[in-house]
Parts: sequence; C-alpha cells; structure tokens
Amino acid sequence: MTTPPHSALIIDGVALSQKLRADVTARVQALKARGITPGLAVILVGENPASQVYVRNKVKGCEDCGFHSVLEKYDAHLTEAELLARIAALNADPAIHGILVQLPVPKHIDASKVIEAISPLKDVDGFHVASAGALMTGMPGFWPCTPYGCMKMLESINCDLKGKHAVVIGRSNIVGKPMALMLLQKNATVTICHSATPDLKAMTLQADVIVAAVGKRNVLTKDMVKPGAVVLDVGMNRNDEGKLCGDVDFEGVRQVASAITPVPGGVGPMTITMLLVNTLEAAERSANIPS
Ligand code: GUN
Repeated sequence: MTTPPHSALIIDGVALSQKLRADVTARVQALKARGITPGLAVILVGENPASQVYVRNKVKGCEDCGFHSVLEKYDAHLTEAELLARIAALNADPAIHGILVQLPVPKHIDASKVIEAISPLKDVDGFHVASAGALMTGMPGFWPCTPYGCMKMLESINCDLKGKHAVVIGRSNIVGKPMALMLLQKNATVTICHSATPDLKAMTLQADVIVAAVGKRNVLTKDMVKPGAVVLDVGMNRNDEGKLCGDVDFEGVRQVASAITPVPGGVGPMTITMLLVNTLEAAERSANIPS
C-alpha cells in the first residue's frame, strides 16, 4: 500500500482578510458613532499599470469597510515640490488619518524625501524612519503592511515563534528587514539571507519558518525546505505562461512544508487588509481611543 503524498496546510489570505476586514468594519462603525470617519488619502503619480491596480484595490478596500478615501492621481510631470505641498496639506487635514504615496514615483522625485514628508502619525505604510525606528525599539508606531500581514498569517495557524529559527530571504526596507524585526520581537532566532549569501540552501534547511521576499521565481524549492517548516511567499512574479506566481515552487514545497501561503490568494490580500487596520488605528489614536 502506498501512503498518500504529504500536502501542507494552505494558509488562505483571502479568507483571513475577510475575517479581519469584518472586524475593521465593526470598529469603523463604532468610531463613526463617535463622529469620526477614518480617512485614507492615496496619491498616485504617473501611469504605472501595476500601481493603478494596487491603488484601485486600496480605495475599494476602504469603501468596503466604510472609510472615507481620497484618490489623488497626478501625471508623471508633477514636480517634487508640488507633491511635497500636497503631502503638507494632507498632514494638516483633520479628515485624513492615513497618507499613502504609491511607489515607485517617477525618477525626478526623491522617494525618501516624499516618505519623510508624511507625518509619522499618518504614515500607515510604515515606511517613515520614525516608523522603522519604532518597530526596531518596540515603541508604538505603524508596521509595514506586508510583513505585518505575514505575522497575522502565522498567528492564524497558532505558530508559536519562541525559540524557532526563522529565515527571511530578502532584505528590502519594505519587507525583509521589518519582517526580521517582527519575528525577532516574537522571540524567534532570525537569519536574513540575500543575494550575497553564499549557501542559501544550507540556511533554509535549518529553518522552522521561511519567508521568501525576493521577487524572483523558484528562489525556494522542495530540496531547500526542512520537513514540517512553515513557508510564507511574498513574491509576485509571472511564470512563462504569464500566470501570477510567487518566489516559492509551490507544488514542490507543499509536499514537505507543514503550512504554506499560495500566490495568488496568500500574502497579497493581507497587505491591503493591514493598510486598513493601520488607517483605522491612526483614526483611533487621533481620538485617543486605545486599540
Ligand atoms: N508599491 C508596492 N508596494 C507598495 C506599498 O505597500 N505601499 C506603497 N506606498 N507603494 C507600494
């Protein structure tokens, strides 16, 4: 008799998002009853097609949960000074609790200047140095949405990180570095791997939890995963047939992992959900309501 092949639990980011968004909607109603409607301003500069889809989904997420949202679209010739002036106006606008400038911005605009111009109290993307510093030191602030969503996914499967070895592949400011800090805060032993890591497989084979956030297909294959590991896939790539795929060889890795996130339908929907959570919390904090 042959035993059936092992197959990992698939962590459903769509279902978890629905659950979390229902909670957000209820908290929005409670806040509205006190006369406050959480407001998010989304700024898009230029015509990047992927960015247009992302901002549309962000605004739709806001509408679905009862937020006030403003989408400001500018053509690619908007000057840096004009953009900074818009941010200053939104910083001062009491109806707006969160400000998000969709990245990338056109080359003539300095993205870090733009990020630092957003008030840390409204930095719902969690990209400001003040937010990064708050995460690093365990102070209250806003956590970047994608790694925050990954932590919620681990929590949803009751993954206790204490004493576990977590390997993060990728060291971006938006995902890899904050991800490592969040895992560390939950008492994992954390390794960050990147393009100059000489033997990635030697690292991932030791991991109880692996987060792949590189932006390249098949960065993680079955032979690189310890049986029973939990695997989160942050990648958003296209395969040869043009289909959306992650950084992980899903079909192979699901045969050895204990739990895995799919692409699409995994981490992606969680990113917008955590943006909504951050915006709601910004509004609650503005009214001195503890979250
Ligand atoms: N571009 C790609 N991902 C993001 C994100 O999470 N926030 C912003 N502002 N821009 C992005």
